[in-house]
Amino acid sequence: MSAERVLVTGGAGFIGSHVADALAAAGYSVTVLDDLSTGDSANVRADSEFVEGDIRSTDAADLVRTGAFHVVCHLAAQIDVRKSVADPVADADRNVLGTLNLLEGARRASRPPRFVFSSTGGAVYGDFEDPPSEESQAKNPESPYGIAKLAAEYYMSYYGRVHGLEIAALRYANVYGPRQDPHGEAGVVAIFCERLLAGEPLTVFGDGLQTRDYVYVGDVARANVCAARAKLPAAGRLDERAFNVGTGVPTSVLELAAALQKSAGQQGTVVHAPARAGEQQRSFVRIRKAADQLAWVPQVDLDAGLRATFDWFRARRAS
Ligand SMILES: NC(=O)c1ccc[n+]([C@@H]2O[C@H](COP(=O)([O-])OP(=O)(O)OC[C@H]3O[C@@H](n4cnc5c(N)ncnc54)[C@H](O)[C@@H]3O)[C@@H](O)[C@H]2O)c1
Repeated sequence: MSAERVLVTGGAGFIGSHVADALAAAGYSVTVLDDLSTGDSANVRADSEFVEGDIRSTDAADLVRTGAFHVVCHLAAQIDVRKSVADPVADADRNVLGTLNLLEGARRASRPPRFVFSSTGGAVYGDFEDPPSEESQAKNPESPYGIAKLAAEYYMSYYGRVHGLEIAALRYANVYGPRQDPHGEAGVVAIFCERLLAGEPLTVFGDGLQTRDYVYVGDVARANVCAARAKLPAAGRLDERAFNVGTGVPTSVLELAAALQKSAGQQGTVVHAPARAGEQQRSFVRIRKAADQLAWVPQVDLDAGLRATFDWFRARRAS
């Protein structure tokens, strides 16, 4: 029997390239669709088919419609929260209309693929209720990025109910690991790794007690494989096919800085800068539902994940 086909959008990016690796290791035949706007062709697996293109294009919708894919793992996105604040229209263009374009392609396929979407826990729940956040918690996104991701999830659940599309939305916590872009907005671990290696101080905004849920990228990639294969419950309301993907463990920025220095075996200095206006104070997610329904639990603890990440940044710097 030939391998099942899967399309990974954003497969030249940080998380998408790990998703492509995990799917290939699980026996899928992988096609990557990416416009290389923030991704790097060096991240695309040599044994995958690479289509350079924009998720908003007719060609992309046609690829999904005619590509005979069993699964589409959709990660391509504008991921910068600050850019979404500066230009919400550009953000929605990629994150809402781009996703909708692919959903339309999927709906029109003779055998529609399962659609696994990379959403966000941190940005959709907002800061009004105390964590840990359950999937059913009220959604109060506080950025255009969070609103766009939630809008895309609403479209997906509509396509699930009305058109019978197989869908799953994975709401990631704070993902870290090898290949993360330290120049982006999201990657405190990547930024700390580069600073430590350069002998520069680690900058902590405010008191450093704000917490996040740091999940290793390999675990996130495996969650995509689980979502590609799992027997899913009937598509119903918004949260029924949504799954938090995190660790369930809050870690403060100060704890993170200390853990990284320990894992790296390298001491740095921590300096404090003024708190950033509007920064969320506490964020972590409950992951019981993914364990129950996707048979997914994280396997890499923070120390091991930080060590693997730091080693990767060190090797890259050395080369
Ligand atoms: N990094 C995190 O902590 C985090 C947390 C929650 C959710 N997510 C989601 O995970 C996904 C992957 O994020 P990442 O951190 O790997 O970011 P990334 O920027 O490394 O990856 C995004 C990829 O999408 C591609 N892309 C962007 N716009 C495109 C378009 N119009 N057409 C085709 N390709 C396009 C980029 O070139 C890039 O390769 C995103 O959907 C993001 O919203 C990330």
